[in-house]
Amino acid sequence: MTETVLSEDVAEGVRQITMNRPDRRNALDRATYQGLINALAAADADAGVRAIVLTGAGGCFTSGNDIKDFAAAAATGVGARIAIDFLNAISTAKKPIVAAVEGFAVGIGTTMLLHCDLAFAGKGASFRLPFVALGLCPEGGSSYLLPLIAGSKRAAELLMLGEIFSPEVAQEAGLLNAVTEVGEALPLAIEKAKALAALPPQSVALTKLLLKRGSAAATAETIATEARHFGERLMSAEAQAAFAAFLMKR
Ligand code: COA
Repeated sequence: MTETVLSEDVAEGVRQITMNRPDRRNALDRATYQGLINALAAADADAGVRAIVLTGAGGCFTSGNDIKDFAAAAATGVGARIAIDFLNAISTAKKPIVAAVEGFAVGIGTTMLLHCDLAFAGKGASFRLPFVALGLCPEGGSSYLLPLIAGSKRAAELLMLGEIFSPEVAQEAGLLNAVTEVGEALPLAIEKAKALAALPPQSVALTKLLLKRGSAAATAETIATEARHFGERLMSAEAQAAFAAFLMKR
């Protein structure tokens, strides 16, 4: 079976983690979330790894949570616990994470960028937070972190209207460091990760910790609160109708 998460060392001290379900636009199913959690833990535990690059295969970052799993939630009564475990893992990772986005970054594909230290996207990338249209609600700490970095009006626009937005808007909203030519996000992310890997690792880790210190408790609390509401929304008639509509179109 093809691995849905790939981990490889692409330069001295740089571990690249790749979401790898290109035929599903790298949608995150349970196995993929677990693969990401394991890969992040392995990178954090490995003294040889000094920076992590997070990307997606096939010219796509990720289309977000697998909607089949969302649709199954009402039937099984099992919510999206594994997604919350992943969010807790990425938001508390000790090593610096540099994201490289090409193509789609939908739902958690966008909100995970809030937990990466640096993020770059190619000009062809597109972003979307479609939670409301899907009958859901914000996740990943986004209802706290997005207003904090983008301002309340921009956050309401992105999280309530849920329209597709460009990498330029994503950068303006504070989700990206820079927009590159198409296909150049990954090389730039690796270059920045190499620069981080060449710096004193304890100082890098301490700086990351200090940068997150002011928002860490509120972020964790928001992820948990959003998760409670999200779990209820997954079971709602509104959400189930939206999932059925998506899956029926296929
Ligand atoms: N969950 C499950 N399957 C998904 C998926 C997802 N999040 N995203 C894409 N897929 C599947 C499609 O159903 C399709 O399957 P098929 O080949 O059996 O028809 C395949 O991946 C390719 O997707 P497709 O929609 O044909 O690709 P596209 O390039 O035209 O569009 C997206 C890409 C990301 C814009 C579109 O797939 C999409 O909107 N996906 C849903 C995103 C979403 O709402 N995620 C949840 C966020 S909370």
